Amino acid sequence: MSPLPTTAPDARATDFRFRCIACGDERETASQDFRCASCGDLLEITYPLWKNFSRDIAQLKSLWRERKLSQSPIDLSGVWRFRDLLPALANDDQAITLREGNTPLYELPQCARITGVPRLLAKHQGLNPTGSFKDAGMTVAATFARLAGFRWVACASTGNTSASMAAYAARGGLRSLVLVPEGKISWSKLSQALDYGAVTCQLRTDFDGCLGLLQELVRRAPVYQLNSINPFRLEGQKTLALELLEQLDWQPPDHIIVPGGNLGNSSAIGKALLEMRDLGLISRLPKLSVIQAEGANALVRTLREAKGESLVNVQAETRATAIRIGNPASWKKAVHVLEATGGACEQVTEIEIAQAKAEIGAEGIGCEPASAVTLAGLKKLVKQGFVRREENVVLVLTGSLLKDPDYTMEFHRGDLFKGSPSENASAALNDLRRPPIILDATLDAVVRTLEQAEKS
Ligand code: F0G
Repeated sequence: MSPLPTTAPDARATDFRFRCIACGDERETASQDFRCASCGDLLEITYPLWKNFSRDIAQLKSLWRERKLSQSPIDLSGVWRFRDLLPALANDDQAITLREGNTPLYELPQCARITGVPRLLAKHQGLNPTGSFKDAGMTVAATFARLAGFRWVACASTGNTSASMAAYAARGGLRSLVLVPEGKISWSKLSQALDYGAVTCQLRTDFDGCLGLLQELVRRAPVYQLNSINPFRLEGQKTLALELLEQLDWQPPDHIIVPGGNLGNSSAIGKALLEMRDLGLISRLPKLSVIQAEGANALVRTLREAKGESLVNVQAETRATAIRIGNPASWKKAVHVLEATGGACEQVTEIEIAQAKAEIGAEGIGCEPASAVTLAGLKKLVKQGFVRREENVVLVLTGSLLKDPDYTMEFHRGDLFKGSPSENASAALNDLRRPPIILDATLDAVVRTLEQAEKS
């Protein structure tokens, strides 16, 4: 089978280009593996017309607000609402949308007290249609897959990308192929892909093995890859930052903190911040910091041991399975945005992740373990003095609590660390545990339990 072009025939050729992040080679088309034809590195989307960007910024900001009142599907999408900064569509009906984006920004007063910052906010991307931040990128990339005439889309995933891809493919009348590591993703995520009709393969390897295989597959078969190597995904994920700044009335916070796995999301948010600064939408850059699980700390080691110049691969192991990734594809893009915004990169232990997840949960806001690394990381960054005690911070919560209920149940039952090296240390978390209580069905038993709980 011969490779097909991945540029949408209907997209205006003048609107955007694919540019190599390493050698700067710019083209109107990209091959199916989304690698630079000259040097093989990753591509990003750029907009040549922005050199003479003449839109009135105040008008643009009010246009984005006004679109919220419209009833058209493209305006109701929290992603396409910002379409002026995305690859253009020939007409609005082309977008495959599930009304993604439009996610809330919550105050976390108790977590602010715990960490010692005055104001702590959480941008909850877990409230997207399939329960994770992936939907913001998927609406754009699936749309361009369909425009390019593909019948099949495919991804490697730790679970959330596959759930999202399967949903958008189904909505857009596309077939989807999912490659996930066998036994290492949550059933909730896997069940989403099945329900949305994906052909789902559990491969006897890890995420990195799945992604390697996908990269070979797209060179052999006419399938469109929807991993975050696909630069359209990152364009969609940029809107998280646009919407966040809009919610903050365009006053940048001091810090934005994200979890790091394959490093697509941090790259996308960083790209958005730099573009917003260059276009004059914001006057200063927040520092964008990336937090990884200690057992999946490729970026941390890349920066500490190789000064960000070459990737240090790791054999990934963490109960935060969404970020169980040892060979992150977008590491160079992430290094660039960390340097450009002056952000930090930290790692946190399994115990710290479990504690942070329970603390966020105690505010009535559920998230999955990978999202909780942000709060755990913030505590470290405050201790180190990198985040100062008077600074405002936004945590990006990437996935819903319902994505991994087994983790939450095991934590509250006290089983999460059983048999692991952290078992003894986990006793420190007992105060945060709320295990279910099995009782005889009598009024007395329930009243006694209520009285005991009141005393505790
Ligand atoms: N948080 C969650 C809930 C995720 O699912 C992921 C990645 C990340 C954080 C890390 O984001 O990869 O852009 O650095 N999940 C991918 C997947 C890899 O296949 O669902 P990243």
